[in-house]
Amino acid sequence: MDRVLSGIRPTGYLHLGNYFGALKNFVRMQEENNCYFFIADYHSLTTHPKPGDLGTNIKNVLVDYLAAGLDPEKCTIYIQSDVPEVCELTLLLAMNVYVGELQRVPSFKEKVRRQPNNVNAGLLTYPILMASDILIHRADKVPVGKDQEQHLELTRDFAQRFNHFYGVDYFKLPVAYNFGDHLVKIPGLDGSTKMSKSDNEASCIFLSDSPELIRKKVMKAVSDSGPTEPGQPKSQAVENLFQLMEAVSSPDTLAFFEEAYQKCEIRYGDMKKQLAEDITSFVAPIHERIMTLRNDDDYLRKVAKLGAEKARESASKTVNDVREIIGIRKL
Ligand code: TYM
Repeated sequence: MDRVLSGIRPTGYLHLGNYFGALKNFVRMQEENNCYFFIADYHSLTTHPKPGDLGTNIKNVLVDYLAAGLDPEKCTIYIQSDVPEVCELTLLLAMNVYVGELQRVPSFKEKVRRQPNNVNAGLLTYPILMASDILIHRADKVPVGKDQEQHLELTRDFAQRFNHFYGVDYFKLPVAYNFGDHLVKIPGLDGSTKMSKSDNEASCIFLSDSPELIRKKVMKAVSDSGPTEPGQPKSQAVENLFQLMEAVSSPDTLAFFEEAYQKCEIRYGDMKKQLAEDITSFVAPIHERIMTLRNDDDYLRKVAKLGAEKARESASKTVNDVREIIGIRKL
C-alpha cells in the first residue's frame, strides 16, 4: 500500500487550483492507499497572518477538505501544529542542509522580491519544514500542483543526503504526483498563468463560491478581441479559458469551442456562459456540503482530534527511528 501525503496552507478558502493540483487526486487515492492530508498552518506563518484570521482559515480549509470528499474514516486529516514532532524532524534534518542552497531556492528568491520587508528565517527554512511534513510519514507520493515540483526535488535531496550521511536506507524518495503524466497548473481568470489567492483574489474560483458569484466572476474573465485568421495562436487569457474548460467541461464541449476558435467563429460570451455553467455544476455539490459543515463545530473538532492522534502515531515512530539512527539514544 502506498503512503500518500499532501498539504495546503490555510490562507483562506480553497480554490480550483488547490482542488485540481492537490485535492482531486487525493479524493481518488484515499480508497486504496494510506493517505495523510494536512493543513499547513506552520507554513502559513511566514506571511504573518493575524491570529484571529489564522484560526478562521484553519477551520475553513478543514471544512473545504471534507466537503471536497476527504473522508476521515479512510484517510488521516490533521492540522500540522497538532503534530509537533514535525518540528523536531525539521531541526534534525536542518543539520545537513546548507544555507547557500536554501538561498538559491527559486521560491525563496521570489518571496524576497515580493516581501523585501519580511525576509524571515521561516521563509529560508520553509523547504526543510516541507520535507519533514513528507518524510515524517515516509510518503511515496505527494499530490501537488506544478508550483511545488521544486520543493519535492529538495525533499528527495534531503532524504537521500540523510540516508547517505548515516549509511542507512531509511527515507524513501517521494515523488510529486498527479494522475496523468504531468503536474497541473490551473490558470487564473485574470489572464495570469496561475490561479492564486495571493496574486489576485478575483482571479480565483473558490469551492465555497455560490453559483451567482461564479457566474459573475467567469463573465468578467479576461479574454481578447478574437482570432482574425484560422490557426492563430491563442493569447494567454484565452488559453486560460480553454484550460479551465478542459478541467471542468466534457471533451465534446471543449472540442466544440476549440473548433469555433480555429474557424474564427468563437463568441467568448457563449464560451464563458458555458464555462460558468460547467464550473457551477462542478462546485455546487461541494458548496452545499460546505454550507452544512460550517455549522458543525463538534464534528470538525472530532475530525481534527482523530486526525491528530493518527498522525502523531506515525510521526513519533519516524522521529524515534531518526533519533536512533543519529545516535540520540536512551541512556
Ligand atoms: P499551497 O498552500 O500554496 O497550495 C496547496 C496545493 O495547491 C496547489 N496549487 C495549485 N495547483 C494547480 N494550479 C494552481 N493554480 C494551484 N495553486 C495551488 C499547490 O501546488 C499545492 O499542492 N508548500 C505548500 C504546502 C505544503 C505541502 C507540504 C504540500 C506544506 N507542506 C507537504 C505537500 C506536501 C504550499 O504552499 O501549497
